[in-house]
Amino acid sequence: MQIDINLDKNSYKVYIDELRRLKFNGKVAVITNSKVGGLYLAEILSLIEADEKYTITIPDGEEYKNLATIENILEQLFVSRLDRSSTIIALGGGVVSDMSGFVASIYERGIDFITIPTTLLAQVDASVGGKTGVNNKFGKNLIGSFYQPKAVYCESRFLKTLPKREFAAGIAEAIKMAVMFDEKFFEFFEKCDVQNQHDLTKIIQRCVELKAMIVSQDEREKGLRAVLNYGHTFAHVIENELNYKGLLHGEAVAVGMNMANKLALNLGLLSVRDVDRIENLLIKFNLPTTYKIKDEYAFYDAFTLDKKSENSVIKFILPNGIGANLIKNDISKEQVIEVLRLFK
Ligand SMILES: NC(=O)c1ccc[n+]([C@@H]2O[C@H](COP(=O)([O-])OP(=O)(O)OC[C@H]3O[C@@H](n4cnc5c(N)ncnc54)[C@H](O)[C@@H]3O)[C@@H](O)[C@H]2O)c1
Ligand SMILES: [Zn+2]
Repeated sequence: MQIDINLDKNSYKVYIDELRRLKFNGKVAVITNSKVGGLYLAEILSLIEADEKYTITIPDGEEYKNLATIENILEQLFVSRLDRSSTIIALGGGVVSDMSGFVASIYERGIDFITIPTTLLAQVDASVGGKTGVNNKFGKNLIGSFYQPKAVYCESRFLKTLPKREFAAGIAEAIKMAVMFDEKFFEFFEKCDVQNQHDLTKIIQRCVELKAMIVSQDEREKGLRAVLNYGHTFAHVIENELNYKGLLHGEAVAVGMNMANKLALNLGLLSVRDVDRIENLLIKFNLPTTYKIKDEYAFYDAFTLDKKSENSVIKFILPNGIGANLIKNDISKEQVIEVLRLFK
């Protein structure tokens, strides 16, 4: 199946379970990490027809998503003499695709790249939309560019080797899409079986369709795209408090969605029943929904450090019933503190 991402001259297609041959006119460099490379690199290389094929293997882990790794990749690209007609292929999760996209955007002022996302999170979220980048000591994803791939190939079979927690972390982002945009999709989630290939493909497809709809309306996150940060305002504080250890990003988002839901409940946007339905769905996928806040005032102050809070106005993205959303920037500190106290 194919889904169009409509962005004028930057348009491309996401292919789901359709990876056959990959044909190129110039040279190709596949960027992967040690773990994913060990699993799928040989197969991918065998599918590629190109003048020359190179492989760049980077270390596995978010801690390597930095400018030092970018330098290292660039160096290898220059040694292999890739040029403007060459293509970069990202084979891996969000870390590999964010860095590969960034490299592609700056190598000789930009060369083509395609992604083959191998985590659920990358398939349902990171692979679509063209955000690329790396972290530095000031924070996550602070250096980067908007740069669209030429094509994305999501293969659901690659998810079979994904560790259970990583899989669940991807599910959290998919549930986020359902709560924000699509009640029917949420109901499908409640009864689906992700072990079933058909159901899993449907989840990937629906998330890509929804993200395509959002990104084509708001490529540079000026408005609608911000809705994808549901749960993230809280999650970023949790991740920061935990020093990015202990909880995976998607797990922190699951907790963050539950926190946002309690706020939505107090504001009359969500019923008790719907708060419970969302929490039960997260629990169905073994996702955490609680976190022990030590100091609710410190937690609140940390919101303003988030790069998405402009001029210290804290934007909360909340469900407005299941399948709809609302961006609120006028919630009083007291109302938020009251919710944070529920997590003490
Ligand atoms: N660009 C965007 O729009 C966007 C959106 C969301 C997240 N992100 C970024 O994505 C990153 C997180 O991505 P992620 O969750 O994919 O993490 P990841 O890339 O670190 O992958 C998670 C782990 O799974 C392993 N792995 C990958 N595919 C596998 C497979 N098929 N089988 C077995 N193991 C496999 C990886 O080697 C890694 O150890 C973060 O850096 C985040 O900032 C970007
Ligand atoms: Zn996220």
